[in-house]
Amino acid sequence: VAAKPMQGRHVIVTSGPTREPIDPVRYISNHSSGAQGAAIAAALRDLGARVSFITGPAQVSPPEGVEVIAVQTAEEMRAAVEAALPADAAVMAAAVADWKVANAADRKMKKNGSGMPVLEFAENPDILAWVSGLAQDRPALVIGFAAETHDVVANATAKRARKGCDWIVANDVSPESGTFGGAENTVTLISADGAEDWPRMGKDAVARRLAARIAEAL
Ligand code: PMT
Repeated sequence: VAAKPMQGRHVIVTSGPTREPIDPVRYISNHSSGAQGAAIAAALRDLGARVSFITGPAQVSPPEGVEVIAVQTAEEMRAAVEAALPADAAVMAAAVADWKVANAADRKMKKNGSGMPVLEFAENPDILAWVSGLAQDRPALVIGFAAETHDVVANATAKRARKGCDWIVANDVSPESGTFGGAENTVTLISADGAEDWPRMGKDAVARRLAARIAEAL
């Protein structure tokens, strides 16, 4: 086995949360720290891949030796993925906001005694579904993540089919799992061949195992 099996390969990794503005000073986001995505980018780099690391505002620093593209919103993340294509593989570990605020204000909203603001939502682009469905430039291997709080494997299996990706890494993000922001993750790798439970392990170990599987598959 070559020491650098991913030499000459280009992989896009998305990571962290996105941030959807309410007004210039407020936003909607989620608890993704970016730890799992950063670990995956580092593991792929260690196998010799060229990595385009597209990250929302994360709590962990991006790894050295990868190309870092920092974005805020889901729409910016989608555009950055498009600009990074073509790639041999795409690993979508970002926790992309499903909705953006449709009536975001361009000035800071004020308390003016006329009642509570009402936020309206609009759907964000689904980056994973879009990449998976590309007619041209679709990466040979498209891997999604599924963050679930219940019926993890069933929901993730349905998500893989719906979004059209090759593999989906299902993880339990219920509050008691400690996955968001924690050092460990418990995942199930789901492909067309079925579901494979991995033991609970550090996010670095999940990343190395996933990177090795990607190298094997390409
Ligand atoms: O960042 P950490 O604190 O280390 O936590 C890691 C993690 C739990 C965030 C990560 O392992 C994870 O599960 N990431 C995916 C989170 C998520 O948004 O899951 P989802 O089930 O909502 O989305 C499914 C897939 O579609 C994901 O690959 C997501 O990137 C993608 N998606 C979702 C919505 C959208 N508009 N566009 C997308 O591309």
